[in-house]
Amino acid sequence: MLLEKILQSQGFGSRKYCQQLIKNGSVMVEQHICDNPKQNFSTDQLSFQVFGEQYQFREHVYIVLNKPSGYECSHQATHHKSVFSLFPEILIHRGIQCVGRLDQDTTGLLLLTDDGQYLQALTHPRKHVPKVYHVTTADPVSKEQREQLEQGVELRNEKGVFAATGVELFSEYQLSMTIHQGVYHQVKRMLAAVGNKVEKLHRNQVGSLILPDLEEGEWMYLTPAQKLLSQNISKEDALL
Ligand code: URA
Repeated sequence: MLLEKILQSQGFGSRKYCQQLIKNGSVMVEQHICDNPKQNFSTDQLSFQVFGEQYQFREHVYIVLNKPSGYECSHQATHHKSVFSLFPEILIHRGIQCVGRLDQDTTGLLLLTDDGQYLQALTHPRKHVPKVYHVTTADPVSKEQREQLEQGVELRNEKGVFAATGVELFSEYQLSMTIHQGVYHQVKRMLAAVGNKVEKLHRNQVGSLILPDLEEGEWMYLTPAQKLLSQNISKEDALL
């Protein structure tokens, strides 16, 4: 691929701007300054430097963020900050999107990508990718409430029944539950439907991917193995 196209594909800006960067001598490949925008490189395992900073070529990006409270999952955030403000400009230029949404006051595992197929696969209602939430409630969780959550509740303006699996009580006011759909405010509405209220909500798992050890606001690129876990695909299935 032409060096100018490589930089453009990685989010460094327009073709013209990338040509300028290269001609100015700001780009190094394999320890040498390359000032020819038309030079061809194989993108396989390619790493390069721009203004002395190291980058690895990525056809697509798959990111996990430990989302802090007070951030909205939209580009045009209205009442709070945008989660996109936590990322460098080159990732914004690449058009990363949130894989599903978390409310502004929900914390925890949020995936972002510029791969439309991956996004579709994880958010398609028929895929039923499980998501695990840790919930802190306003009132003690009764035995009846737990049973109702497991049996399923109806939610206004939504078709069908919404049930949680793997409900575990950590304390009177704290539980963990897995949901298999992803309708608007689902966990908060399910808790409200059984007569309780969510005080705090934290997502700990999507598919089989558990939130890695990241500080709130910190993010990392998913490894190929973590990407498979997020899709609930086993390594064996991936090899078939
Ligand atoms: N369910 C909710 O109610 N809020 C979230 O952010 C995620 C799931």
